[in-house]
Amino acid sequence: MTDTITPGAASVSPAQNDVPMVLADCVSKSFGSNEVLKSISLEVKRGEVMCLVGPSGSGKSTFLRCINHLEVLSAGRLSVDGVLIGFRESNGKLYEMQPKEAAKQRRDIGMVFQRFNLFPHMTALENVMEAPMQVKGEPKAKVKQRALELLARVGLAERADYYPAHLSGGQQQRVAIARALAMEPKLMLFDEPTSALDPELVGEVLDVMKGLAKSGMTMIVVTHEMGFAKEVADSLVFMDGGVVVESGDPREVLDNPQHRRTQAFLSKVL
Ligand SMILES: Nc1ncnc2c1ncn2[C@@H]1O[C@H](COP(=O)(O)OP(=O)(O)OP(=O)(O)O)[C@@H](O)[C@H]1O
Ligand SMILES: [Mg+2]
Repeated sequence: MTDTITPGAASVSPAQNDVPMVLADCVSKSFGSNEVLKSISLEVKRGEVMCLVGPSGSGKSTFLRCINHLEVLSAGRLSVDGVLIGFRESNGKLYEMQPKEAAKQRRDIGMVFQRFNLFPHMTALENVMEAPMQVKGEPKAKVKQRALELLARVGLAERADYYPAHLSGGQQQRVAIARALAMEPKLMLFDEPTSALDPELVGEVLDVMKGLAKSGMTMIVVTHEMGFAKEVADSLVFMDGGVVVESGDPREVLDNPQHRRTQAFLSKVL
């Protein structure tokens, strides 16, 4: 099944453009008896940015982790670019993929976490080069050139030879974004990418994300940066207790929330 994954947006035929980039259909996830996601259905179109907000414990990270099969769904289906994630279907039944197959699918999905998790013993450039070298087995010169371009794109051309310990949090997060982009993903997932940063460093990371959105990258962003959501996102989803309580145009949801739970949450974060 992994062989049928389309390699990237550039090679997608016009007919495939109608396929949503992410399609979650009644996605549920339990840890033991704790049902953390309760039948989540949503869609992210190609090139769109979705912001996901909600109180702590509402299941936002779990949902992102389900998208790249770091968590296995308990029920429902999830597909990325028309391809079922983590499972193969045979005679109407779903079978979980082998870890190797799931890892292959994951290469097309970039993920950026709150904590940057850069390799401390590698320079910024080496961090960005690592996955394409190891996983894709591409020639070093080509990987290096692309890594330098990506570092320039996140405003860090001058910091290529710095180790993470000598970079600010904002710079480290921008390296982490460049590192995710180095695998040429078709989808980027961000899990609170700015919430561990000092306030004065948040803007530089959001600016990089805005640029990425403008370039047409499909993104799902868990964030409490409502200004970013209003300016950049095509849709905003408010989750609470493992369900989608409310979703729609970010400006409408944020300025005129319809549900009490959304109102209560927004009154705390806005
Ligand atoms: N591996 C796990 N095993 C057991 N329970 C888990 C696991 N991962 C998450 N949970 C539980 O799932 C629920 C949702 O967690 P999740 O991390 O998805 O929430 P969140 O919305 O991302 O919260 P936060 O805003 O604090 O990051 C929590 O109750 C959490 O304790
Ligand atoms: Mg979380």
